[in-house]
Amino acid sequence: MMRARITGTGSAVPDKVLTNFDLEKMVDTSDEWITTRTGIKERRIAGEGEYTSTFATRAAEKALEMAGVKADELDLVIVGTVTPDFPFPATACVVQNNIKAVNAAAFDVTAACSGFLYGLSVAEKFIRTGTVKKALVIGAEVLSRIIDWSDRNTCLLFGDGAGAVVVEACEGDNGVLSTHIHSDGSFWELLYLPACGSRNPATQKAVDDKLIYLMMQGNEVFKLAVRAMGEVAHEALAASGMTPADIDLFIPHQANRRIIDAIGKRLGLAEDRVFVNLDRYGNTSAASIPIALDEANRSSRIKEGDIVLFDAFGGGLTWGAALLRW
Ligand code: COA
Repeated sequence: MMRARITGTGSAVPDKVLTNFDLEKMVDTSDEWITTRTGIKERRIAGEGEYTSTFATRAAEKALEMAGVKADELDLVIVGTVTPDFPFPATACVVQNNIKAVNAAAFDVTAACSGFLYGLSVAEKFIRTGTVKKALVIGAEVLSRIIDWSDRNTCLLFGDGAGAVVVEACEGDNGVLSTHIHSDGSFWELLYLPACGSRNPATQKAVDDKLIYLMMQGNEVFKLAVRAMGEVAHEALAASGMTPADIDLFIPHQANRRIIDAIGKRLGLAEDRVFVNLDRYGNTSAASIPIALDEANRSSRIKEGDIVLFDAFGGGLTWGAALLRW
């Protein structure tokens, strides 16, 4: 059977580190509060002259190198992001130009923290139909540019970076077994960016009213995330007749340690089967799963034949899962 198989991974994060102790000097918070409530210790912040496409491009080049695929062999470039370089053109087009993927169609997917999984799901469908042979799927964000750095409810949670995968059509049993994506737009106001779109264009008033910053009702998001991520994980396993006991490595969206622990517990997974790196990066939204995957892959936490489960949740609301045989 023809499957979409991940043949290369890559990631890139800014050099600049912002620790909880740095945040203590910026807002009324403490390392102790942030660590216990979120599990985050530090995050990476883009510097001057660094954009979403900067990290997306670096991650893409590493993934292509690992896969041994040349950029002009790509049929498709998808970038999951809510912090594109511009409202348009798509950041995927900027990346396409940077890497010279001259034969690819390129577009962005807006599904917040589920953006990478949505992109992977789209690429997988194109590959299964035979339309696409080689695709590049990237999750990339520079969230620091839409954060109100005086709001202690949100500023400690997020970070910048990108992760990328090369997905190729391969015969055999290894590759993406299934993807599952869901949305519930009735909750869109729980997590969104009010300005810089057609409702609230970029005006001085939008700046004065702080509409240019991410808004979030953290408590509500937390509860819905635990429920939805738990349900979709079971949905993905059931589609292949598997149970949590079959999972070799669970790579959840890295939003909050307590969310990850709650889902790990629901699935009955021991800690060594759950990949966590949010202590070092915070929530990088669409970039979180591909960055985690790249770290797991390069540190040999995954071996051929392993069953790997991705699980994401984000603004929209959107959520999804992908089950893979590595
Ligand atoms: N430092 C110190 N105290 C803080 C604080 C901070 N940075 N932020 C909030 N507090 C205070 C609150 O004011 C509140 O005080 P009060 O009880 O006197 O009113 C108290 O801490 C508890 O706040 P609460 O918002 O209930 O905390 P919480 O346990 O829900 O944790 C989040 C807050 C944001 C960490 C948590 O809700 C969360 O992670 N939600 C999910 C967010 C997320 O992952 N979003 C992206 C999804 S993809």
